[in-house]
Amino acid sequence: MMRLSIAIVLLLAPAFAHAWPWSDDMANQISIKPQESVDLKNPGMTPYPKRSIPIPGTSSMIRDMEASEKQTNPIPADDKSVALGKNLFEIYCAACHGVSGKGDGYVGAKLLLQPFDLTAEQTIERSDGFIWGYMTFGGAIMPSYANDLSATERWSVINYVRKVLQNGQSAVADEPAAK
Ligand code: HEC
Repeated sequence: MMRLSIAIVLLLAPAFAHAWPWSDDMANQISIKPQESVDLKNPGMTPYPKRSIPIPGTSSMIRDMEASEKQTNPIPADDKSVALGKNLFEIYCAACHGVSGKGDGYVGAKLLLQPFDLTAEQTIERSDGFIWGYMTFGGAIMPSYANDLSATERWSVINYVRKVLQNGQSAVADEPAAK
């Protein structure tokens, strides 16, 4: 019995270690890997394909809060960005910060440290770069959203927080700001 279990463990070991001959077939295919050269005589990084264009947005080279805070928001707060921001805020932030951003979400109520009221003076006075950094790196309790929201999406969330939540408006498209 003992020997049988040892045999089974030995047989299954490669599966746990991802060491079957086919375990890395998905990774090892003909596609070009990051930083791989397609030109064997001329090693080094493959240049971008001809006619490829950069996507406007934020460099992913920002490594900490200090660098974050120096950024300015590159995404104009137009209707499209604000609507996208609303959608994302309600998915990713409202559970803790509440739909109104006042820090009264259902999950937030159960936390040791209450989520901050994003409509309060403190956050109004923060720079866009600070809020972007908070989403990117997280806080004491607040998790990081760097994997859930792209750099550009994070700016749209900020546009929504600024234009709608911090202005006390309740809807994006159907309730234009009072002049
Ligand atoms: C799991 C709950 C949770 C979620 C979800 C969450 N937060 Fe937070 N947030 C917190 C808590 C708690 C704090 C208080 C400070 C801390 O944890 O560092 C906070 C603080 C902040 C602050 C700092 C405000 C200031 O002025 O110092 C910002 C900005 C913020 N959150 C934005 C967001 C945004 C935008 C989202 C959605 C992408 C989000 N949070 C999602 C819990 C959450």
